[in-house]
Amino acid sequence: MASILIVDDDVGIRTLLKDSLESDGHEVFGFISAEEGLEHLNRYDPDLILLDLNLPGIQGFDFLQKINAEKRSIPVVIITSNNDVGSAVKAMKLGAYDYICKPFILDELSVIVQKVIDSKVKDEHIAFLRRRTQYSDTERIVGDSAPMQEVYKFIEHVANTSKTTVLIRGETGTGKELVAKAIHYQSDRANKPFIDINCSAFNENLLEAELFGYEPGAFTDAKRRKKGLLELAHQGTFFLDEIGDMAVGLQAKILKVIEKQSFRRLGGTQEIRVDTRIISATSRNLEECIKKKTFREDLYYRLNVAVVTLPPLRERNGDVLALADYFLTVYNHEFKKNIQGFSDDVKSLLTKYTWPGNVRELRNAIEKAVLFETSDKITINNFKIAGLDSSKNINFLISSSNFNLPLDGISLREIEKALIENALISTRGNQSKAAKLLKISRETFKYRMRKYGINYGQNQMKLFV
Ligand SMILES: Nc1ncnc2c1ncn2[C@@H]1O[C@H](COP(=O)(O)OP(=O)(O)OP(=O)(O)O)[C@@H](O)[C@H]1O
Ligand SMILES: [Mg+2]
Repeated sequence: MASILIVDDDVGIRTLLKDSLESDGHEVFGFISAEEGLEHLNRYDPDLILLDLNLPGIQGFDFLQKINAEKRSIPVVIITSNNDVGSAVKAMKLGAYDYICKPFILDELSVIVQKVIDSKVKDEHIAFLRRRTQYSDTERIVGDSAPMQEVYKFIEHVANTSKTTVLIRGETGTGKELVAKAIHYQSDRANKPFIDINCSAFNENLLEAELFGYEPGAFTDAKRRKKGLLELAHQGTFFLDEIGDMAVGLQAKILKVIEKQSFRRLGGTQEIRVDTRIISATSRNLEECIKKKTFREDLYYRLNVAVVTLPPLRERNGDVLALADYFLTVYNHEFKKNIQGFSDDVKSLLTKYTWPGNVRELRNAIEKAVLFETSDKITINNFKIAGLDSSKNINFLISSSNFNLPLDGISLREIEKALIENALISTRGNQSKAAKLLKISRETFKYRMRKYGINYGQNQMKLFV
């Protein structure tokens, strides 16, 4: 279905065109003058304009030029009389898409309208193919661990059932959006749009307007008609991200869309049919949300048809290093660097850390490290993980450094003495600073120095270092 705007002062022609196009299933708005047409252009955002050249007031040519000047890519088809084809040709030079001669055969009109719609679809298809190439280059799913094998099986299975509603669960950063895209691009909807919206990014009213669109006058700011995102996802996939954050009132409306496969724009009366597969994702515990009455039970059951829970990175043995290598390649490319790998202590840190922010956290850590690294390997100095200052986490330090308790034990006194000496070395013998490093008072520090017979003064330390 296309939405078509007709500008012609001849009421007979307007009615004829309107009836014929409406019976082909299009939405048609007729206007008597270029002024009226221009005034309503924004409101209706048409897919096609049928334009008579001889109009009262502003002429068709000027109308065409105004549209061109605004760089709106709405195709305009000229309606002309047989003895004025010259003007129509001139209009095409000005950017009109085609022309039809009066008196016209209605079938001819249908053919032209279909041609316009097809070429629009073709443009969208090209844009899609462009996006898809980007997708396959930068959005691979990496990891061969056993839990990921299950995820791949799931993707393959649901990709083949292109109507099934899908729910993707998992902690933050586990790749829910990536999996949603993979399902779309492996399904037979792949060359249709993948439209996504993050439910937590909008308040209830805005989200509703985005999802369903609106007619002019539906609310104070609704000056022009806006199509809903659901409409744009026709024949494609609609990804509702963070559905657990959607307001309860809207949840009821989304449930209706899933069940009826149709909806109305806000302020609209027309029922718009959409054929779209809904994939939703959440990192929330929906069962808890139901108990707290922030999530509707009926929607939960409707969504809970094909469900996958993405494993957190800490449970994906072996994947961390594969992902790290992958992101190293990605960011080497992006920052035009040629870093060859990771130093051993970084590798050890990568595998021992628990990654609460999952793959996203890993990705960010590697991005920063690649950016700042100046040697040909990622070194520990440039490998910082937000939320974990490894130097302060004793357990982590002990388990990830080369320090392992010897089988026959070790003297705690020796370790304490070594730490005090170490602190003195790193502060070049400045006892106050060394005490601070070990988080003890200067008096306690001095006491321990005496206790262990350490008596380097500042001068000696200078020699020592
Ligand atoms: N298996 C994977 N292979 C490669 N990249 C991945 C993988 N999993 C996640 N990523 C990357 O990690 C980042 C986070 O993934 P994504 O946005 O899909 O996670 P999410 O589960 O939707 O997170 P959130 O709940 O925070 O929205 C993205 O940059 C994504 O490309
Ligand atoms: Mg996400």
